[in-house]
Amino acid sequence: MKTASAISLLSLAGSVFAATYPLTSNIVGRRFYDAFEFEAIEDPTDGRVNYVDRATAQAQNLTYASGNTFILRTDSTTVLSPDGPGRNSVRIKTKKVYKTHVAVFDIRHIPQGCGTWPAIWETNEADWPNGGETDILEGVNDQGPNTVSLHTGTGCVMPATRLQTGTSLQLNCDANANDNSGCGVTLNTDLSYGPQFNAAGGGWYATERTPNFIKVWFWSRNDPTVPADVKKGCAVTVNTDTWV
Ligand SMILES: *[C@@H]1O[C@H](CO)[C@@H](O)[C@H](O)[C@H]1NC(C)=O
Repeated sequence: MKTASAISLLSLAGSVFAATYPLTSNIVGRRFYDAFEFEAIEDPTDGRVNYVDRATAQAQNLTYASGNTFILRTDSTTVLSPDGPGRNSVRIKTKKVYKTHVAVFDIRHIPQGCGTWPAIWETNEADWPNGGETDILEGVNDQGPNTVSLHTGTGCVMPATRLQTGTSLQLNCDANANDNSGCGVTLNTDLSYGPQFNAAGGGWYATERTPNFIKVWFWSRNDPTVPADVKKGCAVTVNTDTWV
């Protein structure tokens, strides 16, 4: 099981109706340790895992930062007892809370292999599911392509026809329906997840959240259509109107 991941993230906040967002945070390398806290908690989604705190993660080299690289990974060497706790791993969340915003995730590698469950999501933990959850990147084992999902309270149903390149799964976002499978959209490229994502050098995920909509984009590392303001990483502004 190979589980190194390198992520750089920048996020932006703008006024409600503008599609141009000024840069407010650019979280790269060691800056992740200031912007995020480690959550040494029981997994709320019942994965067989043992989330450790930052000190333990650093001592075991489950997290490492240098230059423009930030790594999070699970312990991939310990032989576990079938009856004991799950594998040491990490879960982090931002200290800041974001409302209307754009976030761009520059990811070189995600965990791959049997038993892995990498995810990037946004949620209001204090009011779940009514506060909503956007799963930007999430999967298990090596089952691609990626599915982007929303999980909400009752009364949120997606229209069957939307402007999107992906394929809709079921349309009811209500976490209390359909065993909390949410309203997912499967992306149109295998490069969006797992070994194929990694072999291509990763890529960029981005999300835009406003009071009126939530959008998610993916560009593989060598996709010629990646917008210049995404590729630059630290662009002073991004304009999502120019993203396709
Ligand atoms: C920790 O991990 C990094 C990145 O994989 C590696 O370069 C470094 O040598 C490791 N440190 C130790 C003490 O193993």
